[in-house]
Amino acid sequence: MEKQLYDYGMIGLGTMGRNLVYNMCDHGYTVAGFDKELSKLETLEKEKGSYKIFGARDVKEFIDSLKKPRVILLLVPAGQIVDAVIKELKPLISKDDLVMDCGNSHFTDTDRRIEHLAKDNIHFMGVGVSGGESGARYGPSIMPGGAKEAYERVAVMLEAVSAKVNNEPCVTYIGPGSAGHYVKMVHNGIEYALMQLIAETYQLLKEVSGMSNDELHDLFLKWNDGPLQSYLIEITAAIFVQKDDLTQNYLIDMILDSAHQKETGKWMSQNAMDLQVPIPAIDAAVSARDLSAYKNERESTSQKLKGPIAVFTKNKNEFVQWLEQALYFSMITTYSQGISLLHHASEAYKYELKLEEVAKIWRGGCIIRAAVLESIRSALQQEPGLPNLMVNGVMAEKLISSEEGTRRVIRIASENGIPVPVLMASLAYYDGYRKGWLPSNLVQAQRDLFGAHTYQRTDRVGDFHTQWNQNS
Ligand code: 6PG
Repeated sequence: MEKQLYDYGMIGLGTMGRNLVYNMCDHGYTVAGFDKELSKLETLEKEKGSYKIFGARDVKEFIDSLKKPRVILLLVPAGQIVDAVIKELKPLISKDDLVMDCGNSHFTDTDRRIEHLAKDNIHFMGVGVSGGESGARYGPSIMPGGAKEAYERVAVMLEAVSAKVNNEPCVTYIGPGSAGHYVKMVHNGIEYALMQLIAETYQLLKEVSGMSNDELHDLFLKWNDGPLQSYLIEITAAIFVQKDDLTQNYLIDMILDSAHQKETGKWMSQNAMDLQVPIPAIDAAVSARDLSAYKNERESTSQKLKGPIAVFTKNKNEFVQWLEQALYFSMITTYSQGISLLHHASEAYKYELKLEEVAKIWRGGCIIRAAVLESIRSALQQEPGLPNLMVNGVMAEKLISSEEGTRRVIRIASENGIPVPVLMASLAYYDGYRKGWLPSNLVQAQRDLFGAHTYQRTDRVGDFHTQWNQNS
């Protein structure tokens, strides 16, 4: 009897890897899986039912079970583990095989790995996959980058397993090299900012409106029926009414106010600084997570550093309406910052990104999916070279009509001593971008005075230096 060979191989059978395997099987593919942890392999074997899945006991057996040229997906933790897996695979795989890293790898690592494997004519792709456990199982948003011909070999399978919005698959070829992992990094930075924005809104609703968890649940459900409709708003509604198994309290009230991170948001901020592209909402969200980790210091300073104590507002309904506007406004400015970074990175790294396509595949399956992405996609479709999404007529209209509520919310937050760093950064980004004049002339003057760094003038071209009179 001829040995059965499998269409695809999956290394890493944790929650994401296993669920993606089942998703592939749902679409008629056969898959061989391997994991260094035997228990994960056993879970796969136990759960596989009638699926054509083979759990290999070692890498050699895994490689030998795949159809040639092989396609191997990796869903292992980013960093050194990816390099270790590649090292183990390399002597066993051959020319034209394709390795797809579906984790959240840093884009510079992906470029390095592509180059390394290309020496042996092995293709390597950096593939962003978003949507968590249920996304992997029933349809994620997929951001594949690398050589176009490598993508074409897996396009049909990726389209089959991806999420669909109006029958359009949430996957497209993103671009060469590390483009896929770059776009995933930006997705995650936007995710950090949106999550922090929702968290700031929660604190305001709790401390200024005095809302209970049940009321918060109802409000978020209502919001999810309007312009704010999005995955993150939807799951937030559910979070508020989840009960704790251990105490029977609301679980949200039992969770420590100190958030962890795997750093993709930080990478986006770092890279945006390198490219000199302002993304203040994402920067503020990363800092907010960092600050949250200083739990002990925050507790001790709460007795020392004075500020206003939050008081309940009398105009609860009005406040809730302003908050809805503030969230909407800040969501749009956050997406705008992400798209702006992609616009510049595309030039810097020659990714040739089609931003309309990126917005299209973010409409479903991923963590940042939201109704507003439909308008963002249309805006980018109409004006592909747009320097900033905020200047598109429709998007500008949305911002202008929600700007007043945003200013009011920030004023109330400040009067009540409630930190809203991402709301503030979102408004400052908008105000900064719409100001024809900013006070940077003074910064230029200061640099020239203390360091002879020269300055540019408003009335003539060139670099100028002045002997400043420092004593007047
Ligand atoms: C996704 C998510 C996912 C990410 C988690 C945790 O798109 O499905 O972005 O890839 O790993 O959200 O990220 P942090 O640990 O950095 O919060």
